[in-house]
Amino acid sequence: MKGLFITFEGIDGSGKSTQAMLLKDRFNRLNRPVVFTKEPGGTSLGKKIREILLNDNMNPVSEFLLFAADRKEHAKKIIIPSLSNGKIVISDRFADSSVAYQGFGRGVPIDFINFVHQNILSGLKPDLTFIIDILPETGLERLTEKDRIERGGIDFLSKVREGYLKLARQDKRFVVIDGTVAPEKVANSIWEFISRWEISNG
Ligand code: TYD
Repeated sequence: MKGLFITFEGIDGSGKSTQAMLLKDRFNRLNRPVVFTKEPGGTSLGKKIREILLNDNMNPVSEFLLFAADRKEHAKKIIIPSLSNGKIVISDRFADSSVAYQGFGRGVPIDFINFVHQNILSGLKPDLTFIIDILPETGLERLTEKDRIERGGIDFLSKVREGYLKLARQDKRFVVIDGTVAPEKVANSIWEFISRWEISNG
């Protein structure tokens, strides 16, 4: 049995976590088996890595490798087993976050990031990735408290956003959704997309 792997991406303050939860609720209401998870910190080891990542200053390559360690654990312990059981897995962030933040945002070579992902993820790739798109200014206005990475500011988040949009132009699994409208409207657009997608891919 094969499950469905859906990821949510976007810059800080985009509202992607809210949308990931709303989608989980919709599947729950339809009694469809869904596992909700997140990065960084989806596993118990991941939670410790998350603490380091969000608080300690470090080189961008070290930063990527810590996110990658978290991701390997997450994929092996949660995502792959759930998909093998035929479940729908919704992850609030996954590998594209590293391409956008550490690659486009901090200048870690994208080829290196892709190489590491290819070697740690055993071909695991989302079926659908929703990029909740907003301007960095809007995202930063929405954040009340900022962690180390969120404190990167407008220039950094602009590079991250451009990175996401570039990824979206390269692969059909990405769906860019306007994150500036009301959350219910964003949720409805996502649901409409999934309904159509399931009909043509089901
Ligand atoms: P975030 O989704 O904002 O977590 P929370 O809402 O629980 O605080 O993720 C925390 C930060 O980590 C965010 O600024 C994005 C950053 N991040 C990366 O830079 N690279 C990655 O690979 C991942 C997964 C996250």
